[in-house]
Amino acid sequence: MSENVIIFDTTLRDGEQSPGASMNTAEKLRLATQMEKLGVDVLEAGFPAASDGDFEAVSEIAKKMKKIQVTGLARTNKNDIDLAWNAVKHAPNHRIHIFIATSDLHMSEKLKMSRDQVLQASVDAVKYAKSFTDNVEFSAEDGSRSDQDFMCKVFEAAIEAGATTINLPDTVGYAIPDEFAELVRYARDHTPNMHKVVLSVHCHNDLGLATANTLAAIEAGARQAEVTINGIGERAGNTSMEEIVMALHTRPNFFPFTTNIKTEQIYPTSRLVSTITGILVQPNKAIVGANAFAHEAGIHQHGVLVNPMTYEIMKPETIGLSANKLVLGKHSGRHALHEHLKEMGYDLSPGELNTVFKNFKNLADKKKHVLDEDLEALVQEGVLRTTEIFRLEYLHVSSGTTVMPMASVVLTINERAAKGSDYGNGPIDATFNAIAKLTGTDSELLRFTISALTGGTDAQGEVTVRLRESGLVALGRGTDPDIITASAKAYINGLNRLEYIKEHPATVIQ
Ligand code: KIV
Ligand code: ZN
Repeated sequence: MSENVIIFDTTLRDGEQSPGASMNTAEKLRLATQMEKLGVDVLEAGFPAASDGDFEAVSEIAKKMKKIQVTGLARTNKNDIDLAWNAVKHAPNHRIHIFIATSDLHMSEKLKMSRDQVLQASVDAVKYAKSFTDNVEFSAEDGSRSDQDFMCKVFEAAIEAGATTINLPDTVGYAIPDEFAELVRYARDHTPNMHKVVLSVHCHNDLGLATANTLAAIEAGARQAEVTINGIGERAGNTSMEEIVMALHTRPNFFPFTTNIKTEQIYPTSRLVSTITGILVQPNKAIVGANAFAHEAGIHQHGVLVNPMTYEIMKPETIGLSANKLVLGKHSGRHALHEHLKEMGYDLSPGELNTVFKNFKNLADKKKHVLDEDLEALVQEGVLRTTEIFRLEYLHVSSGTTVMPMASVVLTINERAAKGSDYGNGPIDATFNAIAKLTGTDSELLRFTISALTGGTDAQGEVTVRLRESGLVALGRGTDPDIITASAKAYINGLNRLEYIKEHPATVIQ
């Protein structure tokens, strides 16, 4: 019989630590609902002590989730644990996740604590968390660079204090697969009572080895994998869920393990994460990249036509990528749109459906075929962006070879209309200048990218921006058949996200 590997998703916590990827509570709730549908076992909904916004998001998610286990991260101090408990306690199925660094480098340089102090703090924290719930996970941060015997001693003490899951992180993505597997075996063999708890791993991708390290660890005895959708996360990101799940699924002869993930929900979840965070998936990304199932070379195309298994080791349908995408157009009705959105994972309320339907009709007047990517953008812009301070109402731009580019803009700012105009060295520069003047913001544009959302000359433009203001960074995303309007929407979305981050400052985590 195959053993089950627990899938612990930390897209909402570690994933959110990707620069600029902050999400508001409504967006996190939407993602958490999709995670439940995807079949994730444990959802790390946030770090409640990091900010009021994080606390609120974890609490709201805990109130809404029925089946999925909801966990919140905490350092070893009582305040963090109290906050984590008060946030996750609403979920019928909850866990507190405690972490402290165990490498000499982190203990001496960051924590300024001795080994004995870290050992004691671990025990006290686990015991304190156990006074609230039976389900406590303990993580040894920077585990892969820790003294192995000391780490095992801390694990032993944490288990003795009541931890039910022990997590071994490769926090800085330093490990090599064989070495990491060896470390997992060492921890299993040298930690008394390790067989009574779940052994977990949590890898980062600094050397591009997060998936390989996690799979090696599973082979070596880990039974929980901590992952994120699309591999998003700090620096080079975390282990990507879709890669782990599909490796286990595709190679059962090598990996005799199962997961509870409904693989057909992988692609819709990947799209949702990318849409919400504004972090685009690289085209050649394994499993969910735009080219993952595209065959360019003639010889490959021929083979795939004769028998897809010649060059495809997975079927696109298995991850929810349908070959026959239903195309909607201006004659499609509300019911057809509703049903199709449900298939895509969006179960909208009647009010939300009204908004999306109205915008869908507007788009269908400009674009013959409305594709899934277009619908996602409509849902994102019409439904998910609920707490916006700035909204674009009107844009007129004049530009050309003989005129100085100028933009006139009408915005709603905190529900009040505001008009303004400005010049620039091009139409986008003029638009951004007018918006910055009207909103009284002073952000720096760090990055601007534009691409077509789908094929076709009538495709919508998709713009992403990265903005920085007062040391804070936010991503913004906008889509529209008019690329200047798409740019304005992306810029405004970035400004709204900056406002959100300013209102929900995160504490510096040590
Ligand atoms: O990378 C890491 O060590 C973490 C821990 C908090 C589990 O994210
Ligand atoms: Zn991490």
